[in-house]
Amino acid sequence: MRLGILNDLHIALNGEFSHGVDTCQNTLDVLAAMKTERLDRIYLLGDICLQDPSIETYEWLMPHLHEVGVPFCIVPGNHDSVSLIKAAAGVDATFDEYQRDILDDHTILCLDSSKSQLNNAQLEWLHQQLNAGSGPVVLFIHHPPTTLAVPYMDARHSLSGREDLMRICLKSGRRMMVFCGHYHVDKVVIEDNVTIFSTPSCYCQIASHTDEFLVDHYRIGYRIIELSHRSLTTEVRYLTGNKVLQMS
Ligand SMILES: [Fe+2]
Repeated sequence: MRLGILNDLHIALNGEFSHGVDTCQNTLDVLAAMKTERLDRIYLLGDICLQDPSIETYEWLMPHLHEVGVPFCIVPGNHDSVSLIKAAAGVDATFDEYQRDILDDHTILCLDSSKSQLNNAQLEWLHQQLNAGSGPVVLFIHHPPTTLAVPYMDARHSLSGREDLMRICLKSGRRMMVFCGHYHVDKVVIEDNVTIFSTPSCYCQIASHTDEFLVDHYRIGYRIIELSHRSLTTEVRYLTGNKVLQMS
């Protein structure tokens, strides 16, 4: 089972180049690359829109996403709207609050963190899921469940109530592989039974060595996950990106 992960597209329509980046072309480049990867399924881990969610953005994206030719699931981010995704892409394109999939005997859990926090029902559902079995679990969520030693993001944009989420994951004792976006970094953080993989953005990457916002680089990335009976391997693939204007 080969899964493709992309996130943080932050698509600007109508020729707008935020930070001098052609995010439409970035999206097209990533999807074209993913089409060559013989994927079984794509998880899009949120932040499709540049700032406020807009149905025009989702309507622009959908035919290009379908063009890849594999089933997909959108895990919404804080710049997304579940209702607008459903309106543009159909009710099966995303989910309400949480979702469980079984793919080749692997338990795949998804959580909607688009409000930058989880509610009690989501946390209770996760607790129940983790205590219902014993094998490894893959969790897809836009926000990382802990800080990632990226000072700007940790201080200003980390998930509210992340301690409760992380406590449930750690206490379960289940081997968990958490795949997230939001931070615009390529990073792995391991804490006891929980391994967190942050996938780079399709927009720009954020520096990990400064307290203030600083673009690290404009290459763009997506992730491949290979699930087999007893193992999971994953890697990030980078593309050049389309930085078309110099910022003054
Ligand atoms: Fe985000």
